[in-house]
Amino acid sequence: MCGIVGCILKDKEKHVAPILLECVKNLDYRGYDSVGIATIDGKIYVKKDKGKIPEVDEKLNLADMPGNFGIAHVRWPSTGIANKVNAHPQLDEGNGIAVVHNGSLKNYNELKGELVADGFKFKSTTDTEVIPHLIRKYINEGLDLEHAFRKTIERLDGSYAIAVISKDENNKILATRHQSPLKIGISDDAYFISSDVPAIIEYTRNIILPSEGEIIILDENGVTVHDEYDNEVKKEICVIPWTAQMASKGDHPYYMIKEILEQDKAVEFTLGERDNIQKIIDDLGNIKNICFVACGTSYHASLTGKYLIQHFAKIKTDVVLASEFKYSADTLDEETLVVFISQSGETLDSINALRIAKETSPTLAIVNTEGSAMTEEAKYTIVTQAGPEKGVAATKTYIAQLTAIYLFTALLTKNHDLIKELDKVPNYIREVLEKSEEIEVLSKRYSFAEDLFYLGRGFSYPVALEGALKLKEISLIHAEGYASGELKHGPLALINHRVPVIVILPPGTDYDDTMTNLEEVKSRKAIILSICAEGDNKAECKSKDIFTINPEVNEIIAPLVYTVPLQLLAYYVTLEKGHDPDKPENLAKVITV
Ligand code: M6R
Repeated sequence: MCGIVGCILKDKEKHVAPILLECVKNLDYRGYDSVGIATIDGKIYVKKDKGKIPEVDEKLNLADMPGNFGIAHVRWPSTGIANKVNAHPQLDEGNGIAVVHNGSLKNYNELKGELVADGFKFKSTTDTEVIPHLIRKYINEGLDLEHAFRKTIERLDGSYAIAVISKDENNKILATRHQSPLKIGISDDAYFISSDVPAIIEYTRNIILPSEGEIIILDENGVTVHDEYDNEVKKEICVIPWTAQMASKGDHPYYMIKEILEQDKAVEFTLGERDNIQKIIDDLGNIKNICFVACGTSYHASLTGKYLIQHFAKIKTDVVLASEFKYSADTLDEETLVVFISQSGETLDSINALRIAKETSPTLAIVNTEGSAMTEEAKYTIVTQAGPEKGVAATKTYIAQLTAIYLFTALLTKNHDLIKELDKVPNYIREVLEKSEEIEVLSKRYSFAEDLFYLGRGFSYPVALEGALKLKEISLIHAEGYASGELKHGPLALINHRVPVIVILPPGTDYDDTMTNLEEVKSRKAIILSICAEGDNKAECKSKDIFTINPEVNEIIAPLVYTVPLQLLAYYVTLEKGHDPDKPENLAKVITV
């Protein structure tokens, strides 16, 4: 994934580069392998290179570029390795057109072949480079920039959010989107386009959400949006409830820890969505089946949803990975509610699945990002209230997703006791956060591991999966989450005195069975860390280490609380290993390819 930004300042005397630099710094969770900026002042100025923003800035002084408008990019490579030539902006041969692109073009090889045959020379191995060459080709054929841009995007097959500047029409930025996110921002003294709101929130909270295929033109006089037939479209401005402070790290060393510490609030605020969720339930009518669809951490939230809905509502519930969804699509009908869970609301696999599902079934998107693509596509939307999340590892948005699913289930089944339990969750979370130093100490004992297992049963099985995912994605230690009863069917062979096993052991009906599984790994000499209730002497006797939680947190509500120490463990182990928890290897926050 990548992030793109464009900005045009109304005051021609001012320089836009420092603003573009701040914007891409705020967007670096979308890509941190290379960065680049292009501005115009008579000619196009470009500075770009491979590396994280501070490294490239130190080398090139990115803020020092002339011109009151320009475009910028942070890259997470999908086509072409990370190097200087492949960094964006990509330019045409005469350095007259500069393009930044987020997405992936399926037909770039075919287009490149055609352009090479026409005599165009390519420098990079990116898919993006076909765009400036195509625009140049159509300008050479006599079109103006806007029509050359239109004709170019008609040729593109794939996903894209694109912004373009040209030295020949040096008063505007053109942009468009197809299956990749793009927002327009309007402030008193500037106009913006950006892949995501946090990049520009320091400058404006007034946002326009362009639809797919619309052409956006920013110039010093304002923003115009045209549809595919060139008719001007009037767009509404919405005021985003997030603030610059919410999207900043504050005094914390990393976004991830800031976001972990905000989880009590994420639950409290998401519980405030009750009226909206009730309205959706009232409108749903007869639902016989539910199918959750998601990726990664959101998939783990979905799995908890399956346990919850089946337990309380007795409705048959499936959970499908978004990238595998098309193989289940034929089993859908109008009595199946298909629920999409996504922090970003922009994950391409989930959007593709949503487009399939909505052909036959009612759809509900549970997302954390107001105005994201999935909110446009789904019939119903619940926006979780975790606020902006920038750490690549999902933490507070996961707990907010779980809160929304628990609340949905409680309202669907009119279960007032469950609602009362949910109201206590912020306090339970605060109790865990107050003991985070205990986890910091434990992390020093567990960071030696090369392989770890996380075991849980029933409601605690998705907790085990999520604990393992958090650890592996940021600490780069191999970890597996397992249903504890399943371990003896194979992976038990891997357990020995060098392998830590983290057992999720809340009080409840599954406790005894999970304890039996704990004994199985103990007799293979595993190093056991149990996450269990305060006063659980049995777990304390049988484990090397324990981390305890309020005993009132039973197995049903446990996912909302027992996940928190596992996030902290992943965070502190990652610091212990010397890695950056906000920017893990090879990953980006939003997966739009
Ligand atoms: O934005 P989404 O929730 O749709 O993203 C899905 C996954 O890419 C995401 O949860 C990913 O697994 C996170 N990095 C996990 O921490």
